[in-house]
Amino acid sequence: MLKGLLFDLDGVLTNSAKFHLTAWNNLAKELGITLTDEQLNSLRGISRMDSLELILKYGGQEDKYTEAEKEKFAAEKNAKFVEQVETMTPKDILPGIPELLADAKKQNLKMVIASASKNAPKILTRLGIMDEFDGIVDPATLHHGKPDPEIYEKAQAIAGLKTDEVISFEDAAAGIESIKAAGQFAVGIGDEKLLKSKGADYVVPSTADLKLSEIEKVFEEKE
Ligand code: G6P
Ligand code: MG
Repeated sequence: MLKGLLFDLDGVLTNSAKFHLTAWNNLAKELGITLTDEQLNSLRGISRMDSLELILKYGGQEDKYTEAEKEKFAAEKNAKFVEQVETMTPKDILPGIPELLADAKKQNLKMVIASASKNAPKILTRLGIMDEFDGIVDPATLHHGKPDPEIYEKAQAIAGLKTDEVISFEDAAAGIESIKAAGQFAVGIGDEKLLKSKGADYVVPSTADLKLSEIEKVFEEKE
């Protein structure tokens, strides 16, 4: 029986994913690296330092910089990202999400955030929805980022639920892999072919298409 929902943040509850990707793309350009759309997209859901390492790898610069230089690049990117976050308001909650959260509340479902972002509390506060959630996984406590299952396992533990009692929501390929490795039901938001290839159980093109009752039907069939 469904008892809880686990949410990624960037690209699911709000469109901060685009701020991350723009900030990374600009940093890559400064480093003389041109990223393809596919390479840029592959950064979705990936932690800050892992994203930087991937960009350097795509540019053939993996051995070029010291750890201190890499920390500086990541801090620069984060400062640009935070500038964007400071402009966010409740209007930046994605379409369909307020209804989804309200439906979940009516059913007394537990709700936990499973985002790799150290900025998650700041973003949720800007959106005015911090109090809607029963908990947030602290990414500083993680040993492995997505696609490893650790973050979704932790979110499930915070909710105090079993694997077959939760539905998890993601826009990232790495996130869907993480959910499936944790053995949970995965709802993907975005490219159907890509997210299904990673094992998503249910995919919608955009958050506006999320209907809890529809998702639950498929979830119950799978049980
Ligand atoms: C989320 C985003 C990623 C981002 C990561 C770390 O997973 O989807 O694009 O790199 O969080 O975010 P942070 O705010 O800690 O740099
Ligand atoms: Mg995301």
